Amino acid sequence: MPATIVIGAQWGDEGKGRVADWLAAEADVVARYAGGDNAGHTVVVGDKIFKLHLVPSGILHDHVVCVLGNGMVVNPVNLLREMDQIAAMGVEVSPERFIISSRAHLITPAHVALDSASEKALGNQAIGTTLRGIGPAYMDKTGRKGIRAGQMLNVEEFADALHKMIEEANVTLSRQGGVTLDPKQVALDYIDAAERLRPYIKDTTVYLNTRLRDGARVLCEGAQGTLLDIDHGDYPFVTSSSPTSGGALTGLGIGPRYIDRVMGVAKCFSTRVGSGPMPTELHGELGNRLRGTGENHWDEFGTTTGRPRRCGWLDTVVLRYAAAVNGFTEMFLTKLDVLSGFDELKIAVAYHVDGVRYEYPPVTLAETERAEAEFITLPGWHEDISKVKDVKDLPDAARTYIQKVAELCDTPITTISVGPERDQLVYI
Ligand code: IMP
Repeated sequence: MPATIVIGAQWGDEGKGRVADWLAAEADVVARYAGGDNAGHTVVVGDKIFKLHLVPSGILHDHVVCVLGNGMVVNPVNLLREMDQIAAMGVEVSPERFIISSRAHLITPAHVALDSASEKALGNQAIGTTLRGIGPAYMDKTGRKGIRAGQMLNVEEFADALHKMIEEANVTLSRQGGVTLDPKQVALDYIDAAERLRPYIKDTTVYLNTRLRDGARVLCEGAQGTLLDIDHGDYPFVTSSSPTSGGALTGLGIGPRYIDRVMGVAKCFSTRVGSGPMPTELHGELGNRLRGTGENHWDEFGTTTGRPRRCGWLDTVVLRYAAAVNGFTEMFLTKLDVLSGFDELKIAVAYHVDGVRYEYPPVTLAETERAEAEFITLPGWHEDISKVKDVKDLPDAARTYIQKVAELCDTPITTISVGPERDQLVYI
């Protein structure tokens, strides 16, 4: 395995963190390639629950070096808070184990304030962002006026760039009637953060290519999901980065020849936070049952925002599309245990829009919003499967469900999870 990419096949929150944590055991390097602290990964190790937003879950394996790639947008203050939290839980987060790309872009309070102002201005058309400043930071990047992590290495240059960015944002914020920022205070906070982060900032492109050339195994850890991709998702109800497999290459600066495994992670039902179409969404009792009450950390409430997730039946139109866009070599199906207790289970196999049947999402957002899902119905099962270790001990109905999904997506399902713990896995 020179390099494996782990990618969300739906709208994020598929359980990529636990899959990456599992694969990290056999990796030398784990690298995140897109997004920022809009992501939230929960990893359970014994009695410890780690909620990670920026730091790759590979950090929980002592032998792994973790990388934040050039494709990411990083809020330095939030990153330091997370590093401190992890360190307080006994995990080493030294510059030998954790590297930040000098080309990654920084999220500043200007971006956070602009994200809120833009959502407010959109009213009931709001995207439902995580309000972490992700969109405005990527806008500055593509507008060629962002600040890169490497600029933190030169205090004066960094302070000037910050000052300029905050003053520009203040013009927009005051025009929109929002609260403006104090450029001096921001500069003070960020210069402090820069002092601490300086030892971690390197050229990760050279680092990764050197390690790959020398035979290291690299795990490219995706955030968000395929349907949130800026190009391939339900635009404009998307994030502003490329969580798909192409994004792993540009977001890390590595070539396709190193990739030999592309693992799609799919939850065995659908969830989505924020606005946008979701043709299999369930309202009422069934949706509530899939969501859980919020008492458990694995219930369907956002790790980053705490928002209840929209829940629905599994949608293989979405998975088929994700398998194509990313070139999945296999899929990992998470949370099968949550489906125990249903008399029957539905899977969407196609959409119908204006009398036309679609096996892939239709061309326009308006059509997807009008889409009606065509379902097949499979028998459910009532057994508790959370302790199952061997595929032959799964109820017949659970095995049929897995086989059907693989068949509908034309992609092998190689592993499933039946609970949040590291060892609650079944190999198919
Ligand atoms: P942003 O990435 O904060 O700009 O949010 C854009 C859209 O992506 C919103 O619908 C968010 O709810 C969604 N989103 C962003 N990050 C995640 C994630 O990690 N999991 C699930 N949804 C996400």
